[in-house]
Amino acid sequence: MSLRQRRILIGVTGGIAAYKICELVRRLRDLDAEVRVVMTEGATHFVTPTTFQALSGQPVRVSLWDEQGEAAMGHIELAKWAERVLIAPASADTIARLAHGHADDLLSTVVLATAAPVYVAPAMNQQMWAHPAVQANIGILRVRGVGILGPADGDQACGDIGSGRMLEPHDLRDLLVASFGDQVLRGRRVVVSAGPTYEDIDPVRFIGNRSSGRMGFAVAAAARDAGADVTLVAGPVSLPTPPGVSRVDVRSARQMHDAVLAACHGSDIYIGAAAVGDYRPADMADHKLKKVDGSPLRLELTENPDIIAALAALPAHPFLVGFAAETRELTSYAQDKLRRKGLDMIAANEVGPGKGFEVAENALHLYWQGGDLTLPTRAKTELARQLIGHIAERFLSGHGPNP
Ligand code: C5P
Repeated sequence: MSLRQRRILIGVTGGIAAYKICELVRRLRDLDAEVRVVMTEGATHFVTPTTFQALSGQPVRVSLWDEQGEAAMGHIELAKWAERVLIAPASADTIARLAHGHADDLLSTVVLATAAPVYVAPAMNQQMWAHPAVQANIGILRVRGVGILGPADGDQACGDIGSGRMLEPHDLRDLLVASFGDQVLRGRRVVVSAGPTYEDIDPVRFIGNRSSGRMGFAVAAAARDAGADVTLVAGPVSLPTPPGVSRVDVRSARQMHDAVLAACHGSDIYIGAAAVGDYRPADMADHKLKKVDGSPLRLELTENPDIIAALAALPAHPFLVGFAAETRELTSYAQDKLRRKGLDMIAANEVGPGKGFEVAENALHLYWQGGDLTLPTRAKTELARQLIGHIAERFLSGHGPNP
């Protein structure tokens, strides 16, 4: 990982997470990036400009009206110098001012004057983050192509627990590194489903499957690294959300169906990596089923909706990529699913003891109308990166270049 000669402008705004940006600047310098820091007036109440000056090795600017600073590198030059602008922590106030195009301090002016991709890492109290005004402003920025990184869930400096924590410095560093890679899906909206579904039998028992969600989570992270705006609809798994990805948690196939259909509205690509339960108990018992000695228990199962087939049936649907986990006859089953479900591409893998589920490595065979390709065994993270490359290639060949 190197950021040699990469020019990153960091805008620090007024929030307690500002102290973590010291570490971020340090980590970016370790990768040989050139870093310049612009602070809002509010940020200087948390960390001094001298700290960032020492860490970045460059003068730090706060005011638009700093004659010396303007003489050295004016605000327009600074905006042109930057290859990436990251605002972290981004306070609710800064987010509002960016959404409405203010230019009354140095940072907001630089953001208007730059042609570089802009990323925002929100950090605020969970109640503030959930406020409709903040969410509306974030929506405006998102539509405008600003990358929204996080926030994460967890405990907050104010004592609350919830969504609003700034991503950790190493996550922000990794996202900046990825932003310099091939951004083949920049400006595209991708929805990924991952993990198993649980179909409840009674309040304590369920029918599930052995999907760990790892492949789908890796695919979501790889799509994010390719520049996409990613929503991950996750079944019950114990995996951390990839930073920068929006996550919706569900439990049953029907919940996943509703969440995926809602998330896919206006999206470009859907990747169905979830192992969706085909059946659910016809009735969920209100109380724990009791064992009756000596007699078998019969469960009646009813079919679940096929999520990806439901998407395929919509008049305007995203590019559809399915997964096929098979224990035998991989090619014929996968090609049959491709046709029957109306998919654009299917990624097939063999499952069984030590293969596919619950392991860190996998191999995939990709099939589409008129072609196929094998991706040999490797780490799921690497495999996901390659898969996204092939999906992007097929998607873009049918939809033209990115907006
Ligand atoms: O279960 P099956 O092998 O048919 O799954 C193939 C693909 O269909 C997968 O991408 C899976 O996510 C999707 N699927 C679905 N809804 C279901 C069953 C499977 O979207 N009810």
